[in-house]
Amino acid sequence: MVRRAVLPVAGLGTRFLPVTKSVPKELLPIVDKPAIQYIVEECVAAGIDDVLFVTSAGKSALEDHFDRSLALESALQEKGKLDDLAMVREVAGLADVHCIRQGEALGLGHAVRMGASHVGADESFAVILGDDLLAPGSGFLGRMIEAHHRTSRPVVALMEVPPDEVRRYGVAEVTATARPDEFEVTGVVEKPDPADAPSNLILVGRYVLPGSIFAVLDETPPGHGGEIQLTDALQTLADDEPLTGLLLDSPRYDTGDKLGYLKANLEVAATRDDLAPSLLPWLRSWLDEQEARAGSTGQDDPR
Ligand code: UTP
Repeated sequence: MVRRAVLPVAGLGTRFLPVTKSVPKELLPIVDKPAIQYIVEECVAAGIDDVLFVTSAGKSALEDHFDRSLALESALQEKGKLDDLAMVREVAGLADVHCIRQGEALGLGHAVRMGASHVGADESFAVILGDDLLAPGSGFLGRMIEAHHRTSRPVVALMEVPPDEVRRYGVAEVTATARPDEFEVTGVVEKPDPADAPSNLILVGRYVLPGSIFAVLDETPPGHGGEIQLTDALQTLADDEPLTGLLLDSPRYDTGDKLGYLKANLEVAATRDDLAPSLLPWLRSWLDEQEARAGSTGQDDPR
């Protein structure tokens, strides 16, 4: 059973400055919920009830979001805003939330290693990056956990990208299996030159890992960018036995990137009954206006 998740949220968020100078990117709202709440909800939906945030200085608001807020609760009670009261209580009761500080952002592998004392060496656990959002309700993490139990192997999430984009990601070397959405991952390379990339399947921010990864991370030296890379530790595991790679079948957004963040807001808003009926017609006419304006000035179509 996979009961625990380690959520690394200690990064500096430099791609989203200046807001990340004072607000953790994981707390930026996707419509009206912080990005990280969708991830905790995804964990809970996959049967995980214990979540460890690997945080850093300046991110205590993130812990507060999942804690009780007695002053807010009594104000809502007094005002008779009972739906809002139930909502804020529900957030605090989502999961058993723990935090540990990374101290220095020495890399994703180092951040995951911080979970060793909480998870232990004998238990499998999930890792989800704090800025990696799947369409809510995708059920993909649950499928990864199922694949982990079925194959008894570490499981990574794979996504196909255009070949010239592989240089920004960890890239998998794969062989096909009888299942069209499942691969044996025999190697992983961090941010390769497209000419040297083993495939155009990148690793995205979800992993189901055995507790033995902590000992491997202990022995993993700094790699690409001088950081302790999770991909290097995964390569060590893959040297013994292939990993299982599951192809993502859901839209996925990098909410630590400005464009990805805007797209994630639209994705979520488009599924909301309170917003979609007004937003989508407005969006269509706004795009038409942009197109007409671009046509009259000879610019490219913004789409
Ligand atoms: P990113 O590569 O997005 O790095 O890390 P970042 O620092 O957060 O953002 P930019 O690139 O400067 O804009 C991927 C995930 O790993 C976590 C981040 O918080 C993010 O969720 N991370 C990364 C850590 O927790 N610690 C690290 O040392 C590095």
